[in-house]
Amino acid sequence: MADPKKLYIKTYGCQMNVYDSERMAEAMGGSGYEEVGSPDEADMILLNTCHIREKAAEKVYSELGRFKGLKAENPDLKIGVAGCVAQAEGEEIMRRQPLVDLVVGPQAYHRLPEMEAKTREGEKVLDTDMPEEDKFEHLKSRPKAKRGPTAFLTVQEGCDKFCAFCVVPYTRGAEVSRPVDRILTEARDLVERGVREITLLGQNVNAYHGAGSDGDYTLARLIWALNDIEGLERIRFTTSHPNDMSDDLISAHGECEKLMPYLHLPVQSGSDKILKRMNRSHDRDSYLRLVERIRTARPDILFSGDFIVGFPEESDQDFEDTMDLIRQVNYGQAFSFKYSSRPGTPAAERALVPADVADARLQELQALITQQQRARQDAMVGQEVGVLFEKPGRRDGQMVGKSDHLHAVYVDDCPSQIGDLRRVRIIESGPNSLAGVLI
Ligand code: SAH
Ligand code: SF4
Ligand code: F3S
Repeated sequence: MADPKKLYIKTYGCQMNVYDSERMAEAMGGSGYEEVGSPDEADMILLNTCHIREKAAEKVYSELGRFKGLKAENPDLKIGVAGCVAQAEGEEIMRRQPLVDLVVGPQAYHRLPEMEAKTREGEKVLDTDMPEEDKFEHLKSRPKAKRGPTAFLTVQEGCDKFCAFCVVPYTRGAEVSRPVDRILTEARDLVERGVREITLLGQNVNAYHGAGSDGDYTLARLIWALNDIEGLERIRFTTSHPNDMSDDLISAHGECEKLMPYLHLPVQSGSDKILKRMNRSHDRDSYLRLVERIRTARPDILFSGDFIVGFPEESDQDFEDTMDLIRQVNYGQAFSFKYSSRPGTPAAERALVPADVADARLQELQALITQQQRARQDAMVGQEVGVLFEKPGRRDGQMVGKSDHLHAVYVDDCPSQIGDLRRVRIIESGPNSLAGVLI
């Protein structure tokens, strides 16, 4: 048999890109490729890109420029661009960077092997179609390769919400839910290969509505079905939209044993004026009430959020409203971004907040979040938590894992193996992690 060809994939952006990169590596395995950790000796380089903010998109072009030397050394090297920049700027990529042989959008990954074959014949190929067929059906994983203890599983893709700042509805297309049976089959397969924790993915994962052999499934019903899989210990899901937090999903947080007490629930802003202009379709009060209801169902739940500061026409008062909302919710984790104008989105036409004002607001917001995050972490000291061990730590004999609340936990002199789920008592809280001892 010929030596395997080498594939190097670099992944940017969200967890769905991580999942997609795994599927692309598996699909290319069928064409004789094995994945490698460096671009140096690769026969093919794929950048799986993100278009969410301007910086993310620009990174791709500078990264591509760096491959010039490699291509000069190895004229057989093929360079491909996948992901959301590919979808949004496909033809421009080909124009701006002649090194690129292949551009593939997120809905066309199952065609990657044929596309690669064409590049071997010297063609340049671009496929950013959004076909009706189910790409996941064509992206079946190679059977039985051993895996680490945690995995992502895409159950829903695309978005129909059209927030005024966001490119995702254009790059990922309309909301589509995968059928229940395929998800359950994939989940069982992951568990057989060593996975203990599955994070269900979707741009609007809680809008999931999939067809099952016994009727329609909401995300909550899907979670309950996954809860029955023996050997699967933990279930998470991300990202949720506040308007799709249905009653059954809220009560699942109180009742479903394997569903972890962590919820990423982006709000973006605490000002009703800005939320309206963002086309978020929820307001400040409805979000705060929702948080209360979820906390009633699961008092120890940890909320995580996303915030955009400096959205066009955000006044000092609007920003204060956001800070006030953060104080009320008390987040355990959050991601915050300075607004980035994206071509083709409705907000791109509007006047920007001065950059220094936006920068100052971002700093102030991040300081508050850090404080809340740290307080929540410090409050874990003395508590018992479940920890799923994922890898050895830097120190000899040390293991690192994630708690139920997704805190990184270090245990010294730890006899546990990767994939073990153990009870741990937290003894110390550091800047970004906890330390504990096995019980
Ligand atoms: N619902 C999606 C959100 C994807 S984008 C999901 O599945 O995660 C992730 C976050 O990026 C958003 O919640 C928002 O806070 C931020 N974001 C999106 N567009 C942005 C823009 N134009 N400028 C700055 N931040 C943005
Ligand atoms: Fe973007 Fe809004 Fe859809 Fe999230 S809900 S992906 S922020 S359009
Ligand atoms: Fe980025 Fe696309 Fe994900 S724009 S955040 S990679 S859906």
